[in-house]
Amino acid sequence: MSKQYLHTKILNEELLNVDISKYSSKVAEIHQHLHTTKDEPTGWVHAPLEDNTQIVQSILEVASEIKLKADVLVVVGIGGSYLGAKAIQDALTPYFGSHENGIEVVYAGQNLSGAYINQLIKSLANKEIYVNVISKSGSTMEPALAFRVFRQYLEERYGDEAVQRIIVTTDPEKGLLNDMAEKHNYRTFNIPQNIGGRYSVLTPVGLLPIAVAGVDIEELLTGAKQAAIELNEESLEMNEAYRYATIRHELYNQGYKVEMLASFEPGLAKFHEWWKQLFGESEGKDKKGILPVTSNFSTDLHSIGQFIQEGSPMLFETLLHFREVTDDYNVPYHLRDEDQLNYLDNRSFNEINAISKQGTAIAHAEGGIQVIQLELKKLNAYHIGYLIQFFMISCAMSAYLMKVNPFDQPGVEAYKCHIGQLLNESKKLALRPM
Ligand code: PA5
Repeated sequence: MSKQYLHTKILNEELLNVDISKYSSKVAEIHQHLHTTKDEPTGWVHAPLEDNTQIVQSILEVASEIKLKADVLVVVGIGGSYLGAKAIQDALTPYFGSHENGIEVVYAGQNLSGAYINQLIKSLANKEIYVNVISKSGSTMEPALAFRVFRQYLEERYGDEAVQRIIVTTDPEKGLLNDMAEKHNYRTFNIPQNIGGRYSVLTPVGLLPIAVAGVDIEELLTGAKQAAIELNEESLEMNEAYRYATIRHELYNQGYKVEMLASFEPGLAKFHEWWKQLFGESEGKDKKGILPVTSNFSTDLHSIGQFIQEGSPMLFETLLHFREVTDDYNVPYHLRDEDQLNYLDNRSFNEINAISKQGTAIAHAEGGIQVIQLELKKLNAYHIGYLIQFFMISCAMSAYLMKVNPFDQPGVEAYKCHIGQLLNESKKLALRPM
């Protein structure tokens, strides 16, 4: 049943050289834990199966208002409060211009570049805007600073109407952002307390921005629901997410410490980044973890391709492939054929791209690289929803197999703490009399 939607395949079975069914009982044990624990933020496991009509309705209503009254939505957030929305937007909206059902969505607070924020503000001069600030803790430095800037900007431009143009997505009970929302009467969406940052894309964190960008969020959630149903099996043999998690775990144990996720559609570049955060933050702790790196083919075959094929044998590759991509272009016939490409006359670019994927997989497998293929039917909201749920389940399983906590990020908290301290110290130094 699950193979209908996503097929996980390892190309070099003989190189893997081990029967992954040895992990079956461990996988079943972790499955039970994941599905029953009340002590860890696993709300995302069952969320797609719950009735979400009301929240989807509220998101769609606010999205319609934004699309009516604004030219641009500025989304302020970082990490799990940014990457998922941007990933889905880039994957499912046109390369050039906006989606016919959406408006422009831009991002702030995902870096500390003065040039970026200055140029972003200048670019908004003649446009009507709304701001959606997203932060679970409500105090992360990058988005907090950007929100300060945009709140002031909105107040100066719109006066009292600014309140209407600010939407806050945060923890329902605590945090500075929650306090500010209550005090100023900003409209809010809740981030469920049992869902952590990088597992939150299918909550209002991701849903509001992408609904405004024109993506069909109901389809996205239906795909995630299908994954939650199919990947509910505790049996390793029946569960593609567990199969992927176990194969990568076995490769890790065999000494491959780097996984490169690659695909052949440039719009998936940010999706790779979402995946990188999900696995990197969930697994990379206690001196353990597979380093997640990403590539966009065929572009990167002409840069990192050489290393993958013949460089240090430290990595395995996961090729993500959608069999159908909407929109295509055919190679034109040319009378003079000086480039000798008439043999490709009338073949579609997508068809050539799929062949390039096949060639890459064969070359890399022949070069001794372990290649895992994840194949889905179509690049659309449904299958992206499915894939998101698939990766979140695989990631939790993979981290538990490694005996690390998939849901904390002590290293990120350490960075957050140090930047706060350093800024305070440098302020004191700057204030010291000469
Ligand atoms: O996955 C996580 O928890 C983190 O990456 C957070 O999403 C990120 O640090 C942003 O945190 P917050 O939403 O609290 O601003």
